Order: sequence, then C-alpha cells, then structure tokens
Amino acid sequence: MEFEKAWLSYRRNPQLGLLWKKNSIHSNFQGAIAKNAVQELQTATLEILDCSMTESSCQEESGVLLLLEENREVGKEGYEICQKDGQLLIISGGEAGILYGVFHLTRMLQCSNKELELPVKKTADSPLRMLNHWDNMDGSIERGYSGESFFFQKNEVLVNDRTRAYARLAASVGINGVVINNVNVKDRATWLIDKMFQKELKEMSDIFASYGIRLFLSLNFAAPMELGGLDSADPCKEEVKTWWKEKMKELYTRLPNLGGFLVKADSEGRPGPFTYGRTHADGANMLAEAVKPYNGLIIWRCFVYNCQQDWRDRKTDRARSGYDNFKPLDGQFLDNVILQVKNGPMDFQVREPVSPLFGGMEHTNEMLEVQIAQEYTGQQRHVCYLIPMFKEILGFHTHCSEKLDTVEDIVTGRTMGNHNCGMAAVANTGNDENWTGHDLAAANLYGFGRLSFDTSLRAEEIAQEWICCTFGQDEEILEKVEKILMMSWPAYEKYTSPLGIGWMVNPSYHYGPNVDGYEYDRWGTYHRADHLGMGVERGHEGTGYAQQYREPNASMYDNIETCPEELLLFFHYIPYTYELKTGKTLIQHIYDTHFEGAEDVEKMAALWDSLEGKVPSKVFQRVQKRLGHQKEHSKEWRDQINSYFYRKSMIPDEQNRKIY
Ligand code: GCU
Repeated sequence: MEFEKAWLSYRRNPQLGLLWKKNSIHSNFQGAIAKNAVQELQTATLEILDCSMTESSCQEESGVLLLLEENREVGKEGYEICQKDGQLLIISGGEAGILYGVFHLTRMLQCSNKELELPVKKTADSPLRMLNHWDNMDGSIERGYSGESFFFQKNEVLVNDRTRAYARLAASVGINGVVINNVNVKDRATWLIDKMFQKELKEMSDIFASYGIRLFLSLNFAAPMELGGLDSADPCKEEVKTWWKEKMKELYTRLPNLGGFLVKADSEGRPGPFTYGRTHADGANMLAEAVKPYNGLIIWRCFVYNCQQDWRDRKTDRARSGYDNFKPLDGQFLDNVILQVKNGPMDFQVREPVSPLFGGMEHTNEMLEVQIAQEYTGQQRHVCYLIPMFKEILGFHTHCSEKLDTVEDIVTGRTMGNHNCGMAAVANTGNDENWTGHDLAAANLYGFGRLSFDTSLRAEEIAQEWICCTFGQDEEILEKVEKILMMSWPAYEKYTSPLGIGWMVNPSYHYGPNVDGYEYDRWGTYHRADHLGMGVERGHEGTGYAQQYREPNASMYDNIETCPEELLLFFHYIPYTYELKTGKTLIQHIYDTHFEGAEDVEKMAALWDSLEGKVPSKVFQRVQKRLGHQKEHSKEWRDQINSYFYRKSMIPDEQNRKIY
C-alpha cells in the first residue's frame, strides 16, 4: 500500500533566508537517534530551503549544532533552539529532545513567512504521550476507520517502510510510547509475548527507539493459562507470579526498548483478577513487580463496568462504575502502575463530564485516555476536530487541591509531583494512503501529539500549524480549513445526541442515528425519555453519580440551576417544557440545534468547495466526497432525532419546520 507524508510533506518556503553561515550539521552525540535527527534536518532544509547540508565532525566549522548537554533545565525531552555567532543551536538534556527540537525547527521553517522567532525553549508537559492502537493480528482494527493495520497482517507482524514512516510522524509531534495491539487481547495476540514474534518485534522496537518511542504491548491477563498451560491466572498465586517474572525476564532480554504493558481486565468479557476474588490492585501490582527490574510500566485501564446491567433499574448506573471500582484502591498501587482513565465516565461520547477519578485519586498515578479514532463522533467520515474537546477536559478543575487541580495538572504530574502520568489516545490510523481515512482527521492525530507535548497550545493554534504543514501558507486555505475544523465538533454535537445524554447510535457499530439503539440496553431506556421529558437523574435523588465529584463540583452538577447546560440531560431528568437559559424550552432547543447542526455542515462543505484548485485535487476530492456524505447523514440525524422527540412529546416546532 502506498502512503503519503501527511504533515511532513515539505514544500519550498522562499520567504526564509538561511539562519546559519555554513551548510553543515554537527552532532555531539552518536547513535540511531542522532542519525535520524541529522537526516530529518537534511531532508527539511533541502526541501524547504533548497539548502543541502552535509554532516561535519567539527563543531566550530558547522552551521547547525545538535548539542546533547546533561542536566539542561528543559530536561531530556525538552529543547532549546537559539542562534549564536552565525550558528544555529539545538540543545537538549536527552537525545529525544534533540529530535523534537529538529522537528520544531522544521515546523517553524514550514510555517514562518518572516524571520523565525528565536530563541525557543520548551519542556515536554506530559511525561507519557502515547498512542494506543486497537489493531488485531489478522489485520483488522477494532474501531478502525482508515483501512487495515500496518502493524499486523494475516497473523504476522509487519515491519517495513511504513513502520519507519509512522515512527517519523509520531515522533514529529512528540509521541514517546506506542501500544501496537488491541486492548482486547485474544487468540494469536496473546502470543505476542512469546518467542514466536521476537525477531519482528525487535526490529520494530529498534525503529521506534531510533525515534525516541518506546514499544508497549497490550496483555492478556489470562496468558499464564492460555500460553503457559497453568490452571489459574490468580495474581496472588506463587506459580502465577513466577510465570510472569520469567516471562518478563525473557521478554526484556529480547526487547530492551519495551516500555511496558497496557491491560484491560475484568471488562467487557476480558479476564482479570475478579475471577479469583482479587482486586485490580492485586492484579496490577503483581505485573508491576515482574516488570520493575526493567523499569517497565503497567498501564491498567479503569474502563471497568458491568455491561450486563439492567438499565430499567434506576439505581444502578454505568457512569458510577469506574469510581466505585477504583476509588477504594487509591494508594494501593505500586509506583510503576499507572491507571489509565477514559476522559468521561461512559465511553468517548460527543459530550461527557470529566471522569471523577481525576481528582478523586490522590495517591495514584493517572493517565488520561481520549479517543481520536472517531468511534462515536462520525467515524472519520464526518469531520470532527476533537482538540477543542480535549482542551476543555484538560482545563477542568477537579478541586483536589487549592492550586494545580486541573486534569492538565494531574496528567502533567504537577499536582502530585509524579512522573508516571500522561496522555494516551486511541489511534485513528490505518493503512489508507492518507493514514486517517478522512484527510481532515489527520488534524486529530497531529493535534493530540502536539497538545500532549505542550498542553498550553490552543486548539486554534494547533489547527493552524497542522494546516500550514499540510497545505502550505496560503491565507485562504488557512482561514477556511481552520473554520471548518473549529466548527466541526460543535456541529456534530448539535445534530446528534443532545445535552450530554449520549449514544443514540446504531448498536455495535456505533454509526448513524438510532435513539433507542444502545447495545447494552436492549430495553431502549438509557435516555429515560417518556412523553413528559428525558434525561438521567444522577443527583442525590437519583443514582448519586454527581456525589462522586469533589465539592463544589458535586453540588454544581446536583443542582439543575447550576449544572452546565451542555450536560443537563446527563445529570437530570428534564421536562420538555423546561426553560433553558436561552429562554427556549428543552424541546425547542433540540429542534433548533438539530436544524442548525445540519446547516453548519452545509457551510463547512461550501467552504471546502471554494478551495477547489487550491489544495491538491486528490485531497480535494476525497474530502469533498466525505463532506457530501456528512451533509446527507447530518440531515438523517436531524430528522430521526427531531421526529423521535416530536412523537414522544407531541409538542410542535415553534417555527413549523417540517419534522419527518
Ligand atoms: C468501547 C468500544 C470497544 C472497546 C472498549 C474499550 O466500548 O466500543 O470496542 O473495546 O471501548 O475501550 O475497551
């Protein structure tokens, strides 16, 4: 399969002069990362500045210096870029930091139309910046919307040009950890930790390492049984502990660049410690002990809930389950365990409150998990730029302390002073030529990396950078594509499920409107819609979910008056006639937003149409086709949702629009 270069497709930037006197690069360190850093710089300067740079062993005689210097303030992954006596210096305390500095410089060369703004000084905000691929060994991707896997095919591990191209892309935005296989580890994937795949995994991890990326694998908790032939996977049993210890010794001897493991246990049918009456802490710590000698990490997912719950029962609440399961274990996890928490208590819906596990766990390492694979947000057939959503999540005040209490503070380690924390995204890539199916979905991949490295960046800034790197500096393209991106998440929210209620998608494949269609609720009652109103009562008189937050958040959500309106139906049952702050009734709000959302897509499509001839025609057509589908599909959403609630409420639209 052919593949494109995405935002690393350089074009000549004639507006820039050279920033150095001599066309040579000197690196004061050697090795695979140094080699890539020099090469990346050579490619970029040649293609952007038309300047061919040689490598030199003489520091004084070189134009660009890559300087590894211990104990720099910017740390091992941060960098400084500055000019001195006709030389350009990229300095870092670590090899990866130099590479990130090179990519930063490259970005500046792509995006500047005047002199570069120097000096630059950056540290990496989140210590871990990871992509989680849900790729299966047969080549399929769970929730994959851009082709098949480029890590696996027909039950084999693939290592080829694309592996390197992927590593480049990931490193260019600061990704430093990659989980290559699905969290649902089944069948042959269980064997990834066996000798069978050692050669390929070693090759892959060497490529990753040369771009500052550590390889991670998802683990099957029942591997001692499925792979080792034991009769139990009980984490407290000596023979199980020994099996894992030996397994890890064997693995780390072969793969020294292994960062660690991601584990989905006791969730959606996956095995875990519950089978043996043990806790998540027992399970995670047992594995953590086994990887400790190798500085390995165990990333344990908090996406644990009972998917068999009876939704007609008004007291059980899936939203509660992450906190109910993990809060009692706060403080019991070893230091090389990180709990990976989905941004919301449900499952990557277009709007959810932030999980109360953020701020709820005071003595536990945590990582934020978001999903750039657009499972519930249009599956990369709709444009939905998610960085504004991630910014809101990061900015949420948990009130876990007086200062440094936001999700951003927690995942960057500022709140607890810890280092084992960060951000992970369920990846949106596949072997499609353009990597992400929808060309504009690449902005989420780019954006996630950039945001996790530099959490202070604004969503608009990231969009501009991505557009500039991808399409060049044309003002019209910049303005219009940014508009499309920034309109897209609000538009998607408007024409799909209202005010935080979630789901309303077809069961199992999660695409397209189906109000009663959530697969784990065969009674179609999760939204609690009846002829008078809708929404889930999650305050103190309901499921008590709101009380899982710290004050003042708990009271804010508990009270209908203070609950943020975009989450009103998530937290409360509301009559259709209830008046919102805009003065509109709930039902009128639903009708209006659904009409508006579909109109927004018309506008987005028109903006794109007007770029014909300006962006490469292949890209133009691909995006135009998808926007054409989105236009139709958003109308289908509008009509299904509006007619459903019209039939339930029998309240007509004040504007007498046609509701099908
Ligand atoms: C969602 C998704 C599943 C996935 C799960 C998870 O439920 O639909 O495909 O396995 O999340 O995050 O583990």
